[in-house]
Amino acid sequence: MLEVNGNTKIYVLLGNPIAQTLSPAMYNAAFRALQENRLYIACKVEEDGLEEAVKGLKALGIMGGNVTVPFKEKIIPFLDGISEESRLIGAVNTLYCREGELWGTNTDGAGFLKALKKVDPRGVEGRRVLMLGAGGSARAVAVTLAMAGAKEINIINRTLSKAQEIMEIVYGLDCRGQALGWDDKSIKEAVQESDFIINTTSLGMVPRVEEMPPLNPDWFRPSQWVIDLIYKPKETLFLREARIKGCQTLNGLGMLLEQGVLAFEQWSGLKPPVEVMARELERWV
Ligand code: ATR
Repeated sequence: MLEVNGNTKIYVLLGNPIAQTLSPAMYNAAFRALQENRLYIACKVEEDGLEEAVKGLKALGIMGGNVTVPFKEKIIPFLDGISEESRLIGAVNTLYCREGELWGTNTDGAGFLKALKKVDPRGVEGRRVLMLGAGGSARAVAVTLAMAGAKEINIINRTLSKAQEIMEIVYGLDCRGQALGWDDKSIKEAVQESDFIINTTSLGMVPRVEEMPPLNPDWFRPSQWVIDLIYKPKETLFLREARIKGCQTLNGLGMLLEQGVLAFEQWSGLKPPVEVMARELERWV
C-alpha cells in the first residue's frame, strides 16, 4: 500500500460517470512498482462544474492526469494549450504540465498505433484502412493513421455526415478515401482491398454481445488484419467471424494499455512499467 503523506503527488481523472474506470488501478499499480510517492484518483465532475474543476486542479498544484467522457472536447477551452494532434482530433484525454501551464493532448490514436505496431511492425504507412464507425475514438484513430502515412482511409458510418467530417480532416493530412453508408455499393470492394478493417462502433460490446457491424464476413481475406476497439468481450462476434475466415485479429486491450502508457509517460515524466500496467488491466477486464 502507498504511504500517503505531505509529499504525495496527486494525479486525477475527470469524467462522469467514473465508477467503472480501470485507470486508478492501472496507474497506482505503476506507482507502487516504481516505489513512487504518487497517487491517482478518479473525480466525478458535474457538467456545469468543469471550468471550476480545472481551476481547482491548478490552484491545488495538480498538473496532470486524464479526461474521459463527457469532457474530452468540452475541457479544451479551459486549458492553457493543446497538442497539434489533439487539435486535429478535437478532443483530449491527457492533461500535463508544460512550463507551469496545464496542457492537453490525446494518446488514443497513438496508443492504437503502438498496439498495432506490436503485432505488425510495418505499421500503416502506405497501407489501406477501413474504419467502421465515426465517433470519438474513430476520429482519434483516423487522424493518427493519416498522420502516420496511411495511403487510404475509408469510413463507414450510420450517420454519413459524421464520417464526412472526419474525412475532411483526413484529406487535409494528404490521405485519400471516402465516407460511406452501410448500404453503399462500394463497401464490398472497400472491405476486400483494405489491409486493416477496424471496428470502432459499440456493436458487440457487453452486454449486447450478439451484435456485430453489418459486414459480410465472406468478404474478408486471410491476409487482412481485423481489429476491434472493444475489449469486453475479449473476442467480439466480429473478431470471431474474422478469425474463422483466417484473418489476423486484435482486440481493444492493447490500445487501452498503450494509450494509458503514453499518458502516464506524459504527465509523470517516469518510465512506465508496461508489464505491471498490462497485468493490472488483465486482472480487471
Ligand atoms: P466512441 O467515443 O467510443 O467512439 P461514440 O462517439 O458514441 O463512441 O461513437 C459510437 C459509434 O458507433 C458511432 O459511429 C455510431 O454511429 P452513429 O454515428 O451513426 O451514431 C456507431 N453505432 C452505435 N450503435 C450503432 C448501431 N446500432 N448501428 C450502427 N452504428 C452504431
